[in-house]
Amino acid sequence: EKGGFDHFMLKEIYEQPRSIRDCMRGRIYPNEGFVQLGGIKEYAEKLKNIDRIIIVACGTSWHAGLVGEYLIEEYARIPVEVEYASEFRYRNPIITEKDVVIAISQSGETADTMAAIEMAKEKGATIFGVCNVVGSSIPRLTHAGVYTHAGPEIGVASTKAFTAQVTVLTLIAFYMAQQKGTITKAKMVELLTELDLIPEKIQRALESNDLIKEIAAKFKDSRNCLFLGRGSGFPVALEGALKLKEISYIHAEGYPAAEMKHGPIALIDEEMPVVVIATKNSSYEKVISNIQEVKARKGIVLAIVTEGDTEVKKMADYVIEIPDASEAFLPLLATIPLQLLSYHIAVLRDCNVDQPRNLAKSVTVE
Ligand code: F6R
Repeated sequence: EKGGFDHFMLKEIYEQPRSIRDCMRGRIYPNEGFVQLGGIKEYAEKLKNIDRIIIVACGTSWHAGLVGEYLIEEYARIPVEVEYASEFRYRNPIITEKDVVIAISQSGETADTMAAIEMAKEKGATIFGVCNVVGSSIPRLTHAGVYTHAGPEIGVASTKAFTAQVTVLTLIAFYMAQQKGTITKAKMVELLTELDLIPEKIQRALESNDLIKEIAAKFKDSRNCLFLGRGSGFPVALEGALKLKEISYIHAEGYPAAEMKHGPIALIDEEMPVVVIATKNSSYEKVISNIQEVKARKGIVLAIVTEGDTEVKKMADYVIEIPDASEAFLPLLATIPLQLLSYHIAVLRDCNVDQPRNLAKSVTVE
C-alpha cells in the first residue's frame, strides 16, 4: 500500500507531479489562455464585483491561504485577508453579503474551520471551499467549491494536499483575474503554459532526494532551525518550519527574511541552521544580504536556489537547486526540498514519520 516507499509521507511527496497534474486536468487551457472552474461557475458574475476575499483555514492549509493571498492580489487585484479559522470565529469580524470567504481544508472536517464558515454564512457571505476529501463536511457547508483531487493523504503531515491547495488557489486567482479583466490574454497564455510545466519541474526537484538525505544527516542533531523567505517564499518558509517541527520535533520557526534583523538574528550562532529560500526572483539581491548577515554570525546556511545559481553557492554552506520558475509558481517548487528535508531528518531521528506524537489527521475538536 506504500507502493515500495518506507512511509506514506515519502510516497505522497513523490506523488506530487501526478497529484498536481490531476488537480489541473480539465481546468486549464494554456493555448487559449483560459481557466475553467466548474465548481464556482455559478458565481462567475459575482466575482466581477467583489471588494474583498477572506481566506480561513488552519495549519498547513492556512499557509496555502497565504500563497493564495499573494496570487489573488497580484493577478485579480482583489484585497485578501488570511485568517486562522480559530481566531476569526471568536472575534466579531466585519463580514457582509459582498464578501467571498474561501475555506481551505484537506480533511474537510476541521472544527474551527467549520465554525468560521457557519459564522460567515450567517452574516451573508458567499463561501467557497477548497477541500481534498470528497463528500466531507465542509464541502456540504459551502455554497460552491473546487476540490483539490490530490487523492487520499495518509501521512499526518500534509504534503501533496498542500501543493494541490496551492494549485487550486492559483487557478482561482487566474479565474478571478479572467472574470475581472485584470490580466491580458497573452499574459494568461504565458502563465498557464508555465503552470502546465510545473509537474515536470517538481519531478526534477525530487531528483535532489539523495543530496537532501546527506544534508539531513548534518542537521539531524540541531535543536532549532530558522526558515526564511520573502514574497511568495515566505509561506514556504512557514510551511518548511511547520513540517520540521511536526515530524522531527526540532524547534523551527519561519520568518519573512527581512524580519530577521528585528529579533531572530539574536538566535544565530554556529549551532543555528538557517534554511533560506534564495531563488532568482524579485527579492534575490535582498535575500543574498540576509544570507551574508547569517554568515557573519557563523550561522549554517542551507539555501534553496535556482538551477545554475553561482552567487549564493559562494556563501551558503549547502545548496539545493530547483528548476527556474516565476514567483507565482515558486511555492510549488520550493516546498518540495523542504518536505524531503524534514522527512529525512525525522527518519534519521527515528521518529514516527507518518504518525507524529500528539497529532491527528483531522482535528475535529476546537
Ligand atoms: C500540517 C497539518 C495540519 C493541518 C491542519 C488543518 O501538516 O496537517 O496543520 O493542515 O490541521 O487541517 P485541514 O486542512 O484538514 O483542515
